[in-house]
Amino acid sequence: MKVTIVGAGAVGASCAEYIAIKNFASEVVILDIKEGFAEGKAMDLMQTASLNGFDTKLIGTTGDYSKTANSDVCVITSGIPRKPGMTREELIGINAGIVKTVATSLIKHSPKAIIIVVSNPMDTMTYLVHKATKLPKNRIIGMGGALDSARFKYRLAEALDAPISDIDGMVIGGHSDTGMVPLTRLATRNSVPVTEFLSEERLNQVAEDTKVGGATLTKLLGTSAWYAPGAAVSAMVQAIACDQKKMFPCSALLEGEYGLNDICIGAPAILGKDGLEKIVEIELSDAEKAKIEESSAGVRKTNSLLEV
Ligand code: LAC
Repeated sequence: MKVTIVGAGAVGASCAEYIAIKNFASEVVILDIKEGFAEGKAMDLMQTASLNGFDTKLIGTTGDYSKTANSDVCVITSGIPRKPGMTREELIGINAGIVKTVATSLIKHSPKAIIIVVSNPMDTMTYLVHKATKLPKNRIIGMGGALDSARFKYRLAEALDAPISDIDGMVIGGHSDTGMVPLTRLATRNSVPVTEFLSEERLNQVAEDTKVGGATLTKLLGTSAWYAPGAAVSAMVQAIACDQKKMFPCSALLEGEYGLNDICIGAPAILGKDGLEKIVEIELSDAEKAKIEESSAGVRKTNSLLEV
């Protein structure tokens, strides 16, 4: 299993580190345009191998896509991250051009690869990669819901004063401060609905804190978060590499599912060796349907700014 990560910034490097530590990939190539940067990150990470006990080989390259040839999975993290006070949508002007060039360069060298899109605004960047590469829809997956769900579980555990391992829950919809739809109705603590333990008001607070999870961290850190995004990507790559058939909410190209068409937005999906193998349709309440409708309008508005 060969994995390429484009972008050696904090998210790309964190993702490479988690993949290496989990020891399921034979090779991870990190590519960046900043001279020597990816080589440095790869070398630093390789020097943790004997300490952290992994055999994954990490290679860095400054813009040489031939080094990424025949990758099974490619992760696109390139582009600029948001600064405090910025929305993910504001990044579109710069990131669209970068993501399009990166995606087409990757596919030229790895025609069979599955692509995971992380760059923001993520749902729109995922849609752009579909339009630019015309690959089958199972091979282009946006990373948002896996991260947002992890943040949701963190907030639920906090509200319940419970360990996170007790909690299950999902966030669907767009990966934006207003577009996320945390499914509080379906979240559980050891299979007991969390609605049994938390008031509606507290659950609404959990949902709101989840939706601004990225913005809260951007304010604290001065730039976008990286540990949880990197861990979310690595979990998705592992699900594909190890054919786990694991369910993650992912940004998927919808063709009628959830009543939506021609849009990439977060929906529960099964990840396995063929990438996004299946979109799972669950019965939503009227209130949740309305939220998804509103979320999709927001994503479409950002999509309309694309020149594809
Ligand atoms: C975040 C970025 C990765 O939510 O979108 O932290």
